[in-house]
Amino acid sequence: MSTAKKKYKRITTKSLIEMKVNGEKIAMLTAYDYTMAKIVDHAGIDIILVGDSASNVMAGHETTLPITLDQMIYHASSVIRANERSLVVVDLPFGTYQGNSRKALDSAIRIMKESGGHAVKLEGGKEIGESILRILTAGIPVMGHLGLTPQSIYKFGTYTVRAKEKEEAAKLIEDAKALEEFGCFALVLEKVPAKLAEKVAKTLSIPVIGIGAGGGVDGQVLVTHDMLGMTHEFSPRFLRRYLDLYAEMGDAFKRYISDVKSKDFPNEEEQY
Ligand code: KIV
Repeated sequence: MSTAKKKYKRITTKSLIEMKVNGEKIAMLTAYDYTMAKIVDHAGIDIILVGDSASNVMAGHETTLPITLDQMIYHASSVIRANERSLVVVDLPFGTYQGNSRKALDSAIRIMKESGGHAVKLEGGKEIGESILRILTAGIPVMGHLGLTPQSIYKFGTYTVRAKEKEEAAKLIEDAKALEEFGCFALVLEKVPAKLAEKVAKTLSIPVIGIGAGGGVDGQVLVTHDMLGMTHEFSPRFLRRYLDLYAEMGDAFKRYISDVKSKDFPNEEEQY
């Protein structure tokens, strides 16, 4: 049982600020369904992210762009039914908040009302400020997301490390400060140089959670299917694989097929 599990019965946005102040790192993982969320929550994770990476991981799309608000609500409500302790953050999908703050508020309200999620995450900086502010007026906590923002993949063209150049790094720092000023309770920084991420974490008083952003931030997030080794098509440097489930599950399926074909399954004890 983790220290965090003993200390916090339920994780709230306030607990996360407290963790930052106390120097306790925040652990965050994705989940998109009931069974995975149950395991992740019982393990003591602080934040479950119902990420729009479900578009890739669950639906097999090449990008996160196609996933819809209805699909995100379906995934998030499955996670909520399993969840007891973690803070559940739900991604607002592409096209549901950019350039229209009224639409952003409607989308966030639908997520909160129909899934029971605890907070929403939006990608972008100052340019989405109006949407963030409007969502916050409804009392909905907002997590920011800067650096590599997969919903803008066609603008950047690649999934390479962001903000390596001075100008982009300065813009990222400005955007991070703006998100804090708007009232975001935390910020995800994806695939940026470790030194820059550490500087952002030291500058902000809200927690900064990194993915491919080094160890100098306030917490870490990974896509659960990646860290379990269920996916195996890519191996970014930042990804630590804790299991090789692709191989282990494949082996179990092969054994099952073989047992069925050879009539070994079911045996006498496995029938009525
Ligand atoms: O959708 C997602 O899984 C994410 C994480 C990579 C941070 O946004």
